Amino acid sequence: MGFICAGNWKLNKGPKEANEFFEDFQAKAQGLLLSDFAIYPSAFSLYTVSQELREKGFNWGAQNIYWESSGAFTGENSVEILKEMGATQCLVGHSERRALFGETNEQTAQKMLALANQGITPVLCVGETLQERKSGQTNAVITSQLREALKGWNANNSFWLAYEPVWAIGTGEVATPQQAEEAHQVLRAELEKLLAEKSKKTPILYGGSVKPENAFELAKMPNVDGFLIGGASLKVDFFRQIYQQGTKAKQSS
Ligand code: 13P
Repeated sequence: MGFICAGNWKLNKGPKEANEFFEDFQAKAQGLLLSDFAIYPSAFSLYTVSQELREKGFNWGAQNIYWESSGAFTGENSVEILKEMGATQCLVGHSERRALFGETNEQTAQKMLALANQGITPVLCVGETLQERKSGQTNAVITSQLREALKGWNANNSFWLAYEPVWAIGTGEVATPQQAEEAHQVLRAELEKLLAEKSKKTPILYGGSVKPENAFELAKMPNVDGFLIGGASLKVDFFRQIYQQGTKAKQSS
């Protein structure tokens, strides 16, 4: 695996725009290692994306999931249905889910387990608010979000981890490379504590206002294994440029 570039489209792009994105991406994808990429479209565009990406090695999946497989749960989507569509991954615990929809640490743990049971890789998001950073709680908050989400976790299962400081999401204010590296080091150490040797296979992505202009410096940090990109993942050219900057930074360090 090279430098990971994952795009969280949030509530953007219906099926038509999703289709256009992948037509454009594929036209410009020569020489790119598709397994370094991931996209999380809105639920209603997942079927279209499944038609574009099935069996291509590109990682893709939902932005949220429910842990029950079926039943009277109006409005929810299950891991089983996601799997049937051919998805390989799913976001868990994004800060917008936590802040706007009340997602708890207990729920992130349930989602992690439900996904792992079906062989879908969770992409767990953790991150502190500005207030938490200012009051010196960053490390405590992110390690506790990680520990809580891994309750009952079997170390043989794989997942990706994303550090997304809430104050840097969609604000244009990006963490400095040092801030990102420090948080990633803390998370890496916590992963080692929780999962021992097996923790080494978990990549840690940085997310929060990643753009082509700041990608190189962030990607130079030894513990930044990739990015989780919101706004800039909506444009094929930005997404590709970020990947190129990330790959170049890793090759030069
Ligand atoms: P932005 O890149 O738009 O700041 O969003 C980051 C994010 O939340 C990705 O999950």
